[in-house]
Amino acid sequence: MAYIIFPLIILIFFYFFSSKVSPIPYFPTNKADLDKIVKALDMKKDGVILDLGAGDGTVIFAAAKKAYQDNLNTQFFAIDVNPILIAYMWLRRLFHPNKANINLILGDMFKVDYATILKKYSQRVFYIYISPWFTEATAHMINDQKLDATIVSYFYPVENKKEDLKITGVHDIYIYKS
Ligand SMILES: C[S@@+](CC[C@H](N)C(=O)[O-])C[C@H]1O[C@@H](n2cnc3c(N)ncnc32)[C@H](O)[C@@H]1O
Repeated sequence: MAYIIFPLIILIFFYFFSSKVSPIPYFPTNKADLDKIVKALDMKKDGVILDLGAGDGTVIFAAAKKAYQDNLNTQFFAIDVNPILIAYMWLRRLFHPNKANINLILGDMFKVDYATILKKYSQRVFYIYISPWFTEATAHMINDQKLDATIVSYFYPVENKKEDLKITGVHDIYIYKS
């Protein structure tokens, strides 16, 4: 049994702490701010919400539940580079009332073909809770690729860009409208 458990622990440790796998450590959004974030996403019928670096799905699963309750046909994309977190979300999704609308993508958030995903939706929202450098890079990517999307950033503002709205929480939420 130890032959299985020990390598498994090493593997998990590697995926969570190796900067080669993920330069941003997994750290979930503070649950005390969850309602405010879901509200900030301003979900609309037939819109799309993408969580770049979705972690354990704290935000995307809460938002998908609210969309389900409100009868919104919003689509959700959870993207993460960590296969263990994707596997965890895959399991969580099995028991989610809105599982049909939750899509999981294992991969680097900067290599996803967003234009193809987004073209069907008129309301597009990116949720990010990533490092200041990644926040910056994401804002540039959305702008450069003309994705015409709103950014909701938790904790970190986009440098040199004035937010349209700031919501105060345990950590602040910055909204940059499309
Ligand atoms: C601070 S956590 C945020 C988790 C989640 N969004 C939340 O708010 O609860 C950052 C996440 O980004 C993921 N990540 C880091 N670099 C990434 C990349 N290049 N592509 C996709 N995900 C990445 C990490 O694996 C981690 O789960």
